[in-house]
Amino acid sequence: MDRLPGFRDFYPEPLPSREVGWSADARQYIFDKWRDTARRYGFREYDGPPLEPLELYTTKSGAEIVGQLYNFKDKGERDVSLRPEMTPTLARMVAAHQRSYKKPMKWFALPQLFRYERQQKGRLREHFQLNADIIGESDTAADAELIALLIDTLRSLGLTEADFVLRLSSRNAWRDFFASHKGDPAREYEFYQVVDKLEREEPGVNEQKLQTLGFSLVEVMSIIESGKPTQELETILESLSARGLGDYVRVDYGVIRGLAYYTGVVFEAFDRKGEFRAIAGGGRYDNLIKLISGGKADLPALGFGMGDVVLLELLTARKLLPAFNNALDVFFLVEDESLRSDSLNLVQALRAASLCVDFSLTPAKPDKQFKRAQELNACYTIKIERDPTEGLVARIRNLKSREESAASLHEASHQMVSLCRKPHRLEPI
Ligand code: HAM
Repeated sequence: MDRLPGFRDFYPEPLPSREVGWSADARQYIFDKWRDTARRYGFREYDGPPLEPLELYTTKSGAEIVGQLYNFKDKGERDVSLRPEMTPTLARMVAAHQRSYKKPMKWFALPQLFRYERQQKGRLREHFQLNADIIGESDTAADAELIALLIDTLRSLGLTEADFVLRLSSRNAWRDFFASHKGDPAREYEFYQVVDKLEREEPGVNEQKLQTLGFSLVEVMSIIESGKPTQELETILESLSARGLGDYVRVDYGVIRGLAYYTGVVFEAFDRKGEFRAIAGGGRYDNLIKLISGGKADLPALGFGMGDVVLLELLTARKLLPAFNNALDVFFLVEDESLRSDSLNLVQALRAASLCVDFSLTPAKPDKQFKRAQELNACYTIKIERDPTEGLVARIRNLKSREESAASLHEASHQMVSLCRKPHRLEPI
């Protein structure tokens, strides 16, 4: 039976037949970098349920995402949906318990999200996102801090300013433009959605859509082409320059974001060559918590989501995905079945000392066990032998250098720990 379209299987290592290397190793590598950078910026991890009441999304996220919901009735006749994004869940959680937390709250999550979209390059029906959000701070210092985190997350994966750019914009600038051109306030979000798609649609289609809203393509392009930073964008740019991150950002009003709830500064990160879909996107959503809590809580907020799909495509294209060291530290040879209990005892001692150890679960010929040790890329083999004078002895062999040594059973795990000195399995080689 095949998997559903738009969903991925994560085999331990990438399948050779696949162009883009999904694998559990690659996913873990990205997750480790995401977590590590978010923690370095003082963010705390949270999570929520993957299934939510449908209503959480229908009024708050905007038409585009509502059309992509994986929703159904559960057995209790509730209308539910798999989460297509994390922000409404976060807003719901914050609204319920915000008094328990000092502000600003800096939180991150690594949710798996589900959107019933047309499957295409960079877009699947399931993906993981790093979500990082700051709640309870209206100063632009928070916008700069969040953008710095986004940039540093990509840098931690080996990407440089030659690989990606953050396009910085503001719905405030667009709101002023919309009001000064006497746009119909009831159709403001519709206008934003047209601007959001300008780069993906033909000019003729854009012109037609804008005209029904009372605008011309030339007018709209003039604000994009001016690229003049507003005062709030200016302060964000200054803060990023002070951090040495100025070269990663460019003011670009071509970005407006498709989601309905954004209120102020918005941004998206793209590869410089423009080959891929957006790597990440986010912005301020100062009214969402109020909206979701029915007015009970009212906190300014901002955040971004960075998806694993485009990121992995980009890392693969730029050859930045390391080879993963999945080698075993030790393959334990059980050549004498009468010593299986002693062997198991030492296997467990080695594992307790954090070494990665495997062995043949059932009796097997020595040459077969040795072959398995090589297949599993083990660094060492160990076997226990009876020595006529010293009793039981552990014989250790380095499979690369072929050096051999011996130790008493008591000393063996100490010796192995100092020989291996490997703190983490998934470190890039
Ligand atoms: P978004 O722009 O919808 O924002 O998604 C953020 C990123 O997730 C995109 O730039 C893209 O890399 C990835 N992504 C989105 N949809 C898919 C898909 N179908 N397949 C693969 N990757 C995808 C949000 O979701 C906001 N909730 C982010 C946010 C957090 N805003 C404030 N806080």
